[in-house]
Amino acid sequence: MPSLQSYHTFGLSASSQQITPFSDITSFFAARSQYTSNYLLGGGSNTIFLKDFEGQVLINRILGIEHTETAKAHELRVGAGENWHELVATCVKNGWYGLENLALIPGSVGACPIQNIGAYGVEVETFISSVEGVAFSDKAHFELSAQQCQFGYRDSVFKHDLAGETLITHVNFSLPKQNEVVTTYGELAALESPTPDKIFEEVIRIRKAKLPDPAQFGNAGSFFKNPIIENHHYAVLSNKYNDVPGYAVGTDHTKVPAAWLIDKLGFKGRAINGVRCHPTQPLVLTNTGGATGKDLVSLAREIMLSVQGRFSITLEPEVRLVGKEGLIEL
Ligand code: FAD
Ligand code: EPU
Repeated sequence: MPSLQSYHTFGLSASSQQITPFSDITSFFAARSQYTSNYLLGGGSNTIFLKDFEGQVLINRILGIEHTETAKAHELRVGAGENWHELVATCVKNGWYGLENLALIPGSVGACPIQNIGAYGVEVETFISSVEGVAFSDKAHFELSAQQCQFGYRDSVFKHDLAGETLITHVNFSLPKQNEVVTTYGELAALESPTPDKIFEEVIRIRKAKLPDPAQFGNAGSFFKNPIIENHHYAVLSNKYNDVPGYAVGTDHTKVPAAWLIDKLGFKGRAINGVRCHPTQPLVLTNTGGATGKDLVSLAREIMLSVQGRFSITLEPEVRLVGKEGLIEL
């Protein structure tokens, strides 16, 4: 049974019946037909294999970056198996700006529309013009416009109506030549004369300082999503805790940092066997070595129960958890 440990950034010890990289649609479907149970993987930075997977893991290696330009924008058609950060670095190097706030996010280009990756004030949906792929049911090619992708916070149609139904083969980006830099988030506001190149460097610096490097301590980034609660619920919380941060979402809702809730409950630095709540960013759970899926589930459930009990907020995992038969819920 081949090991999956190096194929997911959390690095739990798990195996599958087969691991098959593919670089085109024909070989994808040929390999897929050999097993009744398959899991599609890019860089494995948002997927955690909690135990041995009883099926085949298919690794996307569809490559290629095609660049064209119009008077207004740089247009890119990118193979889903390309590395996300390398794409951002290539864009910045060539003066094709817009993606720089999303530097150093691990994983593949094909996964970026699935949860609409976001960081430092930018979500990738702003620059996606369409997503191409094939449906598992009839192998038909599709191209969805950004609107059809129904992007939201860590959300898209690929997590709902199309969940587990498609292979994304290419993502098309449109990077406007007149793009404005975004420096609204946190430390970026302090940049003097910000340029896309400076933002790229600064985002890398901040991320390296705050987030654990998966090569040192296995992790999958934020384990939970930041919860979005109704304004009246937020008002009740702020009456009780005058330091609770909140960011307006539309007119009726407020997004609360899950890191604050977890921090307030004293989880920072706490561990169950090999799984630890990261000391500088408690929204990230890490594998300090020898962790098991059971340890991770125990700590995650304890955090969820405590947040529910103290704040009446239900935390939802941001990561994908895979058990022996496929995706599972906590
Ligand atoms: P995988 O884990 O391989 O796959 C994720 C899901 O997408 C799975 O369900 C998989 O089946 C599906 N999938 C993958 N490729 C395809 C495809 N081609 N077609 C169809 N389905 C597919 N995310 C953010 O948004 N912002 C951040 O700032 C951020 N920071 C991170 C920091 C660290 C240290 C880590 C480890 C993760 C971070 N993440 C962040 C999460 C992660 O990097 C993103 O979700 C990324 O897009 C996942 O890409 P991947 O290729 O590794 O996905
Ligand atoms: N906070 C605390 N204690 C801490 C750390 C943070 O209370 O120890 C509070 C502070 O109020 C801080 C707030 O949490 O202002 C937000 O922290 P941070 O800026 O680190 O961002 P985040 O909300 O925890 C989100 C994304 C990250 C993304 C960053 C930067 C989610 C689930 N996570 O984290 O994405 O990189 O913003 O934009 O939305 C990921 O998805 O894997 C990920 C890492």
